[in-house]
Amino acid sequence: MTTPLGKDLVGLEHLSRAQIQLLLDTAEPFKEISERAIKKVPTLRGKTIVNLFFEASTRTRVSFEFAEKRLSADTVNVAASGSSVSKGETLVDTARNLEAMRIDMVVIRHGSSGAARFLGERIESNVINAGDGTHEHPTQGLLDMLTLRDNLRRLDGIRVCICGDVLHSRVARSNIWGLRTMGAEVAVCGPRSLLPSAIGEMGVTVFDRIEQAIEWADALNILRLQLERMSAGYIPSLREYNRVFGVTLERLDRAPRELLILHPGPMNRGVEIDSNVADGPHSVILDQVTNGVAVRMAVLYLLAGGRADLAEAAQRAGDDR
Ligand code: CP
Repeated sequence: MTTPLGKDLVGLEHLSRAQIQLLLDTAEPFKEISERAIKKVPTLRGKTIVNLFFEASTRTRVSFEFAEKRLSADTVNVAASGSSVSKGETLVDTARNLEAMRIDMVVIRHGSSGAARFLGERIESNVINAGDGTHEHPTQGLLDMLTLRDNLRRLDGIRVCICGDVLHSRVARSNIWGLRTMGAEVAVCGPRSLLPSAIGEMGVTVFDRIEQAIEWADALNILRLQLERMSAGYIPSLREYNRVFGVTLERLDRAPRELLILHPGPMNRGVEIDSNVADGPHSVILDQVTNGVAVRMAVLYLLAGGRADLAEAAQRAGDDR
């Protein structure tokens, strides 16, 4: 089946402005379903979705599962530990065996960059990338954009600075590509050791000091230091990192305008972000999580062949409040 997004969602890099706009607009009517007493519509009844999570996840895994269940799909969760992957079965063999049980979609998180595309090219089911290595995390990029749009009322022309460990961050890549496509100005800020060497080719401004980022931006998207992906000493110490790059209330107080604070989670409180910022009045971190469910409902709906102009009708279906 041809959908406006194609067969799979592996990243935002190659999506057009119209496709990203469609995804964000389709998420809008789905937001309301999660506010109902009975959080369910029959939109994906009869569809079977497998969530293959080969890397740790709280937000993305639970958010996809809620999105699937709220659309009435049948869902199965597979983790690497406890599956035949731990016995040496390949990713493609695992997926083809699942396909033999007549599934419709696979949501995959994997430690290897390119795993989602690799799988999508080898199976018939729709594949949705829930984060692949340091490559992309498209639904995180979309939920970040939806949260920015909710608060700033537009994406075109806004200034977003992505702060911290950009080198290891798939969230940063999805945000940079998605936001730039939507007309936002994007900057990064962090130690040079944690910025990709090709950052200059990504069309972003680079700030070496967090104070410069705070002065420039409308919103900061603050990234976690991904200590588990660091094979070498990229920073002298966590304390030093917090002293130089940490987003603190004292630093935000000097901003020329009110800044929106985003973080994809999980947070290292007291390292890249102080608790009084994470829990403070400018933080939209939990709104990001709430929006994640609506964005993932929109992705599932569109890849299943749902029509954007019928998304509101789908949202109204089964409306038994
Ligand atoms: N933002 C994000 O991907 O969080 P999880 O790793 O908990 O899914």
